[in-house]
Amino acid sequence: MLKIAMLSGSLRASSTNSAAIRAAARFAAACARTQVEVQICSIGELPHYSEDVEEEGWPATVQELRSHIESADAILISTPEYNGGIPGVLKNALDWLSRPDGNGSLQNKWVATVSASPAAFGAVWAQENLRFVTTRSGAKLINDDLVALPNVFELIDPSGELTDPTALAKIESLVDAVISHSIDIAGRDLVCPA
Ligand code: FNR
Repeated sequence: MLKIAMLSGSLRASSTNSAAIRAAARFAAACARTQVEVQICSIGELPHYSEDVEEEGWPATVQELRSHIESADAILISTPEYNGGIPGVLKNALDWLSRPDGNGSLQNKWVATVSASPAAFGAVWAQENLRFVTTRSGAKLINDDLVALPNVFELIDPSGELTDPTALAKIESLVDAVISHSIDIAGRDLVCPA
């Protein structure tokens, strides 16, 4: 069984990035090739990162997130763009996961990225920023090309779910790539080559 941890960089109740993650989770759960366990991780309850807090021991919410990430074969992150970069709440989560420096939860983890925005570029700057931060923390990228959902408010239905066929096809294809990649390395060495 493969385990994919998924997280959205938005805390907004009607978040389009969370809708993208839910669509990805549905595709993964419906995978016919192998059984996939999806863990959608929440990041809103994490304390602000501080070295003083870390020295006292991982807070429970941090520990829970770290275990989900560490036990996953792959991680899928969807990010909005705030002022050209990833939202602070996502950076905060990634900072917690990056610790201890050089040996954090993201070290040698396979990460796939996607971004969504109501604007025309689909938050590609934020996605580039996400890829920079995660790889700086030791992660390896699964998708070579950015997967972006521009004009995303036109791609969701009134209930807030992603329904646009082209957008769904992009997400399905990304999930497929994540699963294929994970199957490829499972049974061999899950630690990524340098
Ligand atoms: C934004 N938004 C935004 N969009 C974008 O494409 N580029 C940007 O730089 C920004 N900057 C930005 C800053 C701040 C503080 C906010 C609150 C918003 C708009 C953003 O893409 C929009 O709110 C999305 O809907 C957020 O994603 P979710 O919550 O739908 O997942």
